[in-house]
Amino acid sequence: MRFLITAGPTREPIDPVRYISNRSSGKMGYAIAEAALEAGHDVILISGPASLAPPRKAKFISVSTSDEMFDAVHRHADKSEVCVLCAAVADYKPAQVSPVKIKKGNAEFSLELMPTRDILQSLGLQERHKFLLVGFAAETDHIEENAAKKLREKNCDIIVANDARIGMETDENKLLILFRDGEMNKISHAPKQNLARELVEIFSKFATKKFDKENVMITERT
Ligand code: CTP
Repeated sequence: MRFLITAGPTREPIDPVRYISNRSSGKMGYAIAEAALEAGHDVILISGPASLAPPRKAKFISVSTSDEMFDAVHRHADKSEVCVLCAAVADYKPAQVSPVKIKKGNAEFSLELMPTRDILQSLGLQERHKFLLVGFAAETDHIEENAAKKLREKNCDIIVANDARIGMETDENKLLILFRDGEMNKISHAPKQNLARELVEIFSKFATKKFDKENVMITERT
């Protein structure tokens, strides 16, 4: 199967020297890419700025802004069987980007922000998409309720939820996995490499199940 994986943060420029970003390291997404390659899958890794070496056998696409990530994902999603959107995409970007460095002043200064496009939701709401769609949810409270809401609103097959206070910038995490049919799975505290292997196994099993079901439906209709 071909896996498309997004990872890392995005950077939303304010002026030529400043940007808005977040603390995502990209470790979880890169670990999933490594685990998918290890399991014999093809991988397209679309990554925001991260200080990690990309897996050698992956097709690597480096992006910076949420708009660049949006375009790269949409160019490659239909060629993939599993799309795993693990990136911590900025939710807002400056409404205007100054072409020159903004100079310091003594008065209060505020920045007008506008929402970025939601990449995961744009794939989920795409009619008749064939790939298995997996989203991530980084939460600090009401993890299960918030993740279930994201699963519904973004029309994903699977949401992998984690406590942002444990998972950000660290080598370990624990996960709660919610499936479209209401099933739920927990993976206890473990290194991201181990979690990634388990996730890849779950994703490929579900993708196979989804494609088998669709093939049966096509055969029955013809
Ligand atoms: N996501 C995305 N595009 C965005 C924002 C988020 O594709 N502009 C994806 C992330 O890659 C992740 C999922 O949506 O798979 C959930 O991201 P998260 O930051 O947890 O949630 P948000 O939708 O941004 O909501 P909130 O920040 O309010 O929790």
